[in-house]
Amino acid sequence: MSGLQRKDLLDIESLSVDEIKLICESAKYFKDLFTRSVKTVPVLRGKTVCLLFYEPSTRTRISFELAAKRLSADLINISVQTSSVVKGESLIDTVHTLEAMKADIIVMRHAVSLAPHFLSRNIKSSVINAGDGFHAHPTQALLDAYSLMEKRGNIEGLHIGIIGDILHSRVARSDISVFKMLGAKVTLCGPPTLVPDEFKQYGVEIAYDLDEILPDLDAIQMLRIQKERQKGNMFPSIREYHKLFALTSQRLQRCKKDVVIMHPGPMNRGVEIQDAVADSPSAIINEQVTNGVAVRMAIFYLLAGGVPLEGIA
Ligand code: CP
Repeated sequence: MSGLQRKDLLDIESLSVDEIKLICESAKYFKDLFTRSVKTVPVLRGKTVCLLFYEPSTRTRISFELAAKRLSADLINISVQTSSVVKGESLIDTVHTLEAMKADIIVMRHAVSLAPHFLSRNIKSSVINAGDGFHAHPTQALLDAYSLMEKRGNIEGLHIGIIGDILHSRVARSDISVFKMLGAKVTLCGPPTLVPDEFKQYGVEIAYDLDEILPDLDAIQMLRIQKERQKGNMFPSIREYHKLFALTSQRLQRCKKDVVIMHPGPMNRGVEIQDAVADSPSAIINEQVTNGVAVRMAIFYLLAGGVPLEGIA
């Protein structure tokens, strides 16, 4: 058992509010290391971390890789394109291979929802979900919550808008959970085909007119259109989508002065967000990437048995 009192980190819903706060508090200590000339600590020396990515990733993979290296872990980086999966090896056989290699922590991204849950039931190693299908992306949600807390001090009482392709977004599902658990009001906005009414069951508001809700929002998480996951045409055209739902400089002017603009990446500049907004002082998109490393270091540390930190020597 660890500071988190669990073997795996598979979704936000199975975490308690105290565990979410513990991860964020621990991430602060690890972020302090980033300003030092030597950024590594021997926290995971002798432990093996395996990155098992069945789907493309830039940010998440590099962030986990850097987090593991900064904690001095031994790293195995398996990309499905170069593994025996392309020769037809089943997930369970890959699991048994990893078990035999005594990987301590496996970080998995998979196109099928709940694949990391399947892995966790069949292996003694800790499993971290790095994104599964439409279902969950808990470490992204934790870094989003951490980044917003860092900027605003607290999430409780904030009104957060999540804008775009909610239907196909695992980030949206995990963000809704973490923001609600930390006491925020959440409003989803996008075309009705991409923001179905069923989402109301998660205790969120739904809006279809971005201009109407903008002045009330304290923070905005912009999402990209996930063309690769969409079946059929979910809206008339990118041009029309941009007109109705893109965060433009004009729309930024309608927001509160201290609004916080976030994006989990990858961004489609000129589609859901204009350059001038993505690069504006209101945006914390680069901080989200930096904080992702600190949050993932904290998760590794806590899953490996780390206790709450008072400070790192
Ligand atoms: N935010 C995110 O999951 O990005 P990648 O797909 O590049 O990992």
